[in-house]
Amino acid sequence: MDLTTVEQSWLAGNEGPALRRAMEIVVALGTIYGAERLVPVESVQISGVSYRNIGDAGLDFLRRWAGEGARVRVPTTLNPTAMDMADWDMQGFDAVFADRQREVVDAFVRMGVEGGKPDPTCTPYLIGNRPGPGAHIAWAESSAVTFANSVLGARTNREGGPGAIASALTGRTGAYGLHLDEHRQATLRVEVLGQPATISDFSALGALVGLRAHNAVPYFVGLDLEATDPVCEEKLKALGAAMAATGAVALYHVPGITPEAPASSAPPVELPILTVEEFATGYAALSDDIARIDLVWIGCPHASLAEIRDVAEQLRGEQLAIPLWVTCARPVRELAARQGLLDVITGAGGRVFADACMAIAPVRELGFGAVATSSAKGAYYLRNLARVAASFAPLTECVQAAVTGTMPGSLS
Ligand code: F3S
Repeated sequence: MDLTTVEQSWLAGNEGPALRRAMEIVVALGTIYGAERLVPVESVQISGVSYRNIGDAGLDFLRRWAGEGARVRVPTTLNPTAMDMADWDMQGFDAVFADRQREVVDAFVRMGVEGGKPDPTCTPYLIGNRPGPGAHIAWAESSAVTFANSVLGARTNREGGPGAIASALTGRTGAYGLHLDEHRQATLRVEVLGQPATISDFSALGALVGLRAHNAVPYFVGLDLEATDPVCEEKLKALGAAMAATGAVALYHVPGITPEAPASSAPPVELPILTVEEFATGYAALSDDIARIDLVWIGCPHASLAEIRDVAEQLRGEQLAIPLWVTCARPVRELAARQGLLDVITGAGGRVFADACMAIAPVRELGFGAVATSSAKGAYYLRNLARVAASFAPLTECVQAAVTGTMPGSLS
């Protein structure tokens, strides 16, 4: 691999062990994937922040790296943690877990992440980390990767946890995969016959496409986003998150949205075709057969202000039978509070938590064995990672489930 003089010096350890270790990781990953050089990145987004997922071994690894003097070189944001860093006790976490989770975040603070004041979120593009078309970045959260590549036109592979940290410390990643033009071409034509309408409908569509597309680059034909005036970024975020969860889609093309797929461009005609006639089956594909629900979770990926407003409108005048939790970035929560939306949600008995993701939390230990969510990705990871029963349903049904404690349409 061709390295610049500066990169060779870092790799030789001339700037200390932390940077040497980071360079070793970046170079090793680049070599594995056939990169001929490294490319500077404008921003990094780090995953693997939940203490529940990384445990004591991961915490020790981070502590050691921070202790060696590791410092980020480019703007870097953090994926969600397991808990709200301020209101963890309201979620039912014990003090021991909370201490460990705080230590994980502290290690990143010592590395200088977000100027030492991180706002952990899987939607960094909603709080200012919003790269432009053609920008090389190194992001790890799969839903954010898909959004950055497909909607913003930035260029990132789906980085792993240590790889993203190494990119943050070096400001580099290998020039391979989606950093290169040739890997950004569409490879699968997806013809959508039934029009999804709501954000969760887009999530259901994405779940079906991801299950069949695997790691292809889908080109959507017939997806009428103009009909959802104004073009709704939340729908694109839901679509991409679901495809990245049930498949490994990191880039998709929607004409008129994706910078590489201008509205005027003719759809590729020689690609394999996937026809989706009935996106609604995506709901059933990710749902367990459950009637009684312990928790309703909205905000996967983290909710935007508009999504929180939607929840608040649906909760106005209601009283919940079971907990309903919305997760979002802290700055978004603060905006929602200023607009009175939190008062509406808490008045009904719901909560809005910042920083947190329920899929990487010890959900069962918190007392929840069955969770309803309006997110395909949320349901997928609740079942496969948190190992609890899940029901994936439109937002209106999730709200009804929170009011009654029972999934609408169930017989119990
Ligand atoms: Fe974000 Fe967690 Fe969903 S990281 S995309 S809220 S699974």
